[in-house]
This record gives sequence, C-alpha cells and structure tokens, in this order.
Amino acid sequence: MKNWSLGISISVVVLTLVFVIRYEQPDHKLPRNHTVDDVSKEEESVHEPAKKPHFITLEDLDYLFLNESLYGEEGLLVWSHMRPFLERPDALPETAQGIEEATLAMKDLVFLINKEKRASSSSAAMVSKESRRNCPDFVTAIDGDLSGLRPLLELPCGLTEDSSITLVGVPDEEHSRSFQIQLVGSRLSGESYHPIILSYVVNFSEPSIVQNTWTEKLGWGSETRCPCHGSVRNQIVDELPLCNRRTSRIALEESPNGDATMELSLENANFPFIKGSPFTATLWFGLEGFHMTVDGRHETSFAYREKLEPWLVSAVKVSGGLKLLSASATRLPVPDDHASVAVEEQLTAPSLSGVTKIALLVGVFSTGNNFKRRMALRRSWMQYEAVRSGKVAVRFLIGLHTNEKVNLEMWREAKAYGDIQFMPFVDYYGLLSLKTVALCILGTKVIPAKYIMKTDDDAFVRIDELLSSLQEKPSSALLYGLISFESSPDREQGSKWYISKEEWPLDSYPPWAHGPGYIISQDIAKFVVKGHRQRDLILFKLEDVAMGIWIQRYNQTVKRVKYINDRRFHNSGCLSDYILVHYQTPRLVLCLWEKLQKESQSVCCE
Ligand SMILES: *[C@@H]1O[C@H](CO)[C@@H](O)[C@H](O)[C@H]1NC(C)=O
Ligand SMILES: *[C@@H]1O[C@H](CO)[C@@H](O)[C@H](O)[C@H]1NC(C)=O
Ligand SMILES: *[C@@H]1O[C@H](CO)[C@@H](O)[C@H](O)[C@H]1NC(C)=O
Ligand SMILES: *[C@@H]1O[C@H](CO)[C@@H](O)[C@H](O)[C@H]1NC(C)=O
Repeated sequence: MKNWSLGISISVVVLTLVFVIRYEQPDHKLPRNHTVDDVSKEEESVHEPAKKPHFITLEDLDYLFLNESLYGEEGLLVWSHMRPFLERPDALPETAQGIEEATLAMKDLVFLINKEKRASSSSAAMVSKESRRNCPDFVTAIDGDLSGLRPLLELPCGLTEDSSITLVGVPDEEHSRSFQIQLVGSRLSGESYHPIILSYVVNFSEPSIVQNTWTEKLGWGSETRCPCHGSVRNQIVDELPLCNRRTSRIALEESPNGDATMELSLENANFPFIKGSPFTATLWFGLEGFHMTVDGRHETSFAYREKLEPWLVSAVKVSGGLKLLSASATRLPVPDDHASVAVEEQLTAPSLSGVTKIALLVGVFSTGNNFKRRMALRRSWMQYEAVRSGKVAVRFLIGLHTNEKVNLEMWREAKAYGDIQFMPFVDYYGLLSLKTVALCILGTKVIPAKYIMKTDDDAFVRIDELLSSLQEKPSSALLYGLISFESSPDREQGSKWYISKEEWPLDSYPPWAHGPGYIISQDIAKFVVKGHRQRDLILFKLEDVAMGIWIQRYNQTVKRVKYINDRRFHNSGCLSDYILVHYQTPRLVLCLWEKLQKESQSVCCE
C-alpha cells in the first residue's frame, strides 16, 4: 500500500507538469494585441516587477512560522502545527504558490497591524469609515471614467458569488469589429503582469464570443467560443449551458446544408450584440463559473479556472469598439461594522477555558471576503444553546487573501468574534484538503473534541438535531453524513471535479461523505494528522473524497470503520426535516433560523 500511495503522490507532481503544458499552449487565434500587454504595461512600470523563484523557500516558511510578532495570536493557533505539512515535496500543485503569496500577504498585514497599533488614538468610528472605503458595496463609473484608459471599475475587495457587474453600451457602428471586457486579478506572486481572470471578446466579423483566461506563467488557456459546436454544446456550468442553446441549435441545424450565408444570417439574428444598438449586459458569478446575461437572456457561461477564482478579481477593463453608457458593480463583499458598534456579546465565540474536551467541533470552510455569510451563521445556527454554552465549538477556517485590505478586515473580524482560524496559505480551491488536515489538527491538538465536523459557509446546520443523532452513534471509527458508496472520478476535462488518471488511476472512489457536512470521530482525525506528518497518506485535491481515501486506509490498517449514511444531510438545496442544507444565501440562512424559532419546524425558505 505504501508504494502504491507513493506512486500516486509522484503522479500528482507529474500532473502539475501536465497542467502547465496544457495551459501553456498559446492560443494563436487571438492576435497579440489582445494579450494584456496593452492594458498592463503602463501601470506595471509603477510597480517593481516581482521576480521570485517558484518554490517554497525556507525564508518564506521562517517568516510565516517563526515571526515573533505573530506568535500566540488567537487566530493563528493551527498555524504553528502546519509547517511539517507544507514542506512536503509531493505537495499539491498550488501549495508553493499559495504559501509564497501568504508570506507576502502576511508581511503586508503585519505592517498594517503595527501601524494601527501605533495610531491607537484613531477612534472606532474612523476605523469603521475606513472599512467602508476599503470595501465599498457598490462601485460605478461615470462619464469621464469610461475612456477605457484606466480600469473602468476598481474592486478592492474582489467579488463574491452574490456580486454582479452591469454594463450598458452601444457597439460601434462603423470602424470596429470587436470589443472586449476583462476581469483583471490581483498580481500573482512571481509574476509581473496581472492575470486576466476572464477575457470576454465580442467579435462582429464572425459573430462570436470568445472567453478565456491569461496569466504570465501559463499564457492563454483553452478558449471557449459561442456559438459552440461539438461536445462542448452539452457542457453546463451551474446548470446553465456554455452558450445560449438557441444560437447553437440554429448554427448546427443549418450546417449540414452547407448554406453558409443562411447560417450566418440566422446566427446573426440570434447574436446578442448588435452594432449601433444599445444593450445591457450583466455578468454574475455562480458557484462554478461566470455567467453573462444580455438584455435579460442568459447568453454565455464560463467555468472558473484553477487559481483564477472570482475573489481574486480586482478591476474591470473594457476596450475596443464599444461606447459605454454606464458601468457598475453591485453587491460587492462588505465587512460588517464590527468596529464602530460594540460587538454584541451574543455573537462572539464563548470562552473555552476550563473546557477539557468538547462534544463537537464544527469547522466551517470560508473565504476571505465572504463577510456576509459568516455574519449570517453567527446570527443563526451559531446561536444554538449548545454552541453558546461551549459544548459545541464553531470555527471558520480561512486562508489569506491576496488583497491586504481584505486581510486587514478579516483580522479585525477575527479579533472581534474570536471564531476565525487563519491558514498559512492563500485560499485556492486546490488547497482545500490541506484545510481539512488543518481542521483535524484543530480538533485534536487545539480544541480537542469527541467529534469533528466539516461544513461550508453557505450551509445551515441544525446543531440540536445533529447532537441528538450523534448520541446513538459509535464514538470511534465513525464517518457520518451523506455518503457516496459507489462513485467514480469525473474524467470530463474542464469540470471543477475533473480528476486525471495520474491523480486517481482507479475507476472508482472508496466511500466518502459529501463535503457540505460530514462528521468524523476524533481517532480518525488523529490518524489523518499522524498519517500526513509521516507522509504516508496521499494529498488529493477534492477534500471530501480525500477524507474518504484516508478513512479507507484507517479501515484497512487500524479499525473497521462505521460508515453511517443519513439522507437528512442535503448537499444541494433544501428539503424539510433536514439536519443540514447547502447552497443557502445569507438571507435564506436567516430565514431558516427564523422559521425554526417561530414555528419550531425545519422547513425550507425558497
Ligand atoms: C490588433 O491587431 C490587428 C492585427 O495585428 C490590427 O489590424 C488591429 O488594428 C489591432 N487592433 C488594435 C486595437 O490595436
Ligand atoms: C517579523 O516581522 C517583522 C515585521 O514585518 C520583520 O521586521 C521581521 O524581520 C520578521 N522576523 C522574522 C524572523 O522574519
Ligand atoms: C474576429 O473573427 C475574425 C474571423 O474569424 C478573425 O479573423 C479575427 O481575428 C477575430 N477578431 C478578434 C478580435 O478575435
Ligand atoms: C473495511 O474493512 C472491512 C474488513 O476489514 C472490509 O470488509 C470492508 O470492505 C472495508 N471497507 C472499505 C470501504 O474499504
């Protein structure tokens, strides 16, 4: 078994190379002038290009783990235990970059914290004002700003799943054949140019919309084009097709006739952008990808690419033949006003001093700018008596953000509520299973608990029902949740859950419990921590399947595991009589809580 798992670990490294090779294919279809050169060069000359080698240097790790100014901070309790896990040579592909960026972020943050300490005279009200300025919930560009020279919209605290960007414009009637919209990200460590999280090119020569991503290191990714042909036609993102089906269908039906003119004119009729005619385009952000609605109709979707997720976006740029009438971004992530109003005692984490072993630790996986989601949980199911009394502890596990303002806001939030644990890496999706290891450390070494639960910040957990259900469960060798006993790797490239043969050569996975909420007993958490310290458990990027893989090993080598399936854990949407529901917006989370309080019933809100 050992050799076999080592084989997989090596394969993970091989996969990294495969990825690089796949993404480095330059896309010759896009002319040079559609790279970032035009948009980034002038502003880049202002910054020192960051030329850093791309592996974890000891200096970085020393900074993160030895710096006395961070030592003993309450939000960094897992931190000191994490070092051996990050030095693994077979680490997940994103680890080196995630840690390197965390080092830069932490240096900036320590600087800001110290500055704030020195200027302690500044009143709470001022801090709160500054928070608003740091992270506005709405930005708009008017008249003068529409010239296209500078970024159209600056988004200092990134985007979340609730945000959207709306552009009203008229495509040039005469000269221009195309225009493009770009979502530009914060600079990645080791790169001098900002990444393009989404490049959206509307081309009138051959009516089409081409979407892609670009980073300095990987170049252009593989483009998606609408109208689309072939197998991509069936791909969906957040349950929406990649391209508006009406456009695609007509294009396909016409092509066997070979009547190109006919095809073009029909496509044209369905093409959402028309020269000289105003449109309203809204770009919004789902769980899995970007979606564009034009004049009220869904037109295109684009799955997020690895490491290029919406929280990284820092600006919107528009160029080419488009006369913009207005541009705005709404429902941007805003931190709560915990600096000015006295934080309600009821919302802060109860002290655990004197508590030796708690019944349940709930680790909520969250991301820096999801301020609203965390507040909704604090005001709802974190108010259960069991949580308030310290029988159950709830902690948010959050990686650092690449933006220093978001980090500062998070730091303040952590100080105010005492329920945040930071990770010594930046929050890339591919690093989630490192967070799972961190949760196991938290539940065994920092806040030892009989059971440890993993959940997400858009899940609602009925702690009362869960506790009574756990009473009849075994206290060791337990995996409890919504369990997939028979599942196989997704081999569809481009899927968020895509797993190559190198990452997982077998045709099926061992049993695993769905990520929005599962519970393990403490012996399993200990096994996971030890197994990773000794490096004989593999790292696998899908965190819930990874837990299933580790638990199978426990079952084979230590003790027979009880896999207990419970359909009351809903991994997508809501059904009444639930223990857990997922994909709930902050509004729905508060609504579910209210229903439980008023009607004492676990009924849904949609
Ligand atoms: C982009 O490049 C093409 C060909 O290289 C050129 O014809 C076109 O004018 C350029 N467009 C802009 C906006 O520079
Ligand atoms: C700790 O942080 C401070 C402030 O950023 C820095 O000056 C110092 O060199 C750091 N110490 C170590 C050991 O990295
Ligand atoms: C637009 O489409 C034409 C025809 O396929 C192509 O030659 C041109 O390069 C495209 N322009 C852009 C900006 O992609
Ligand atoms: C767990 O172990 C038992 C016996 O040791 C075995 O029958 C069972 O198939 C194992 N389960 C898994 C998921 O590997």
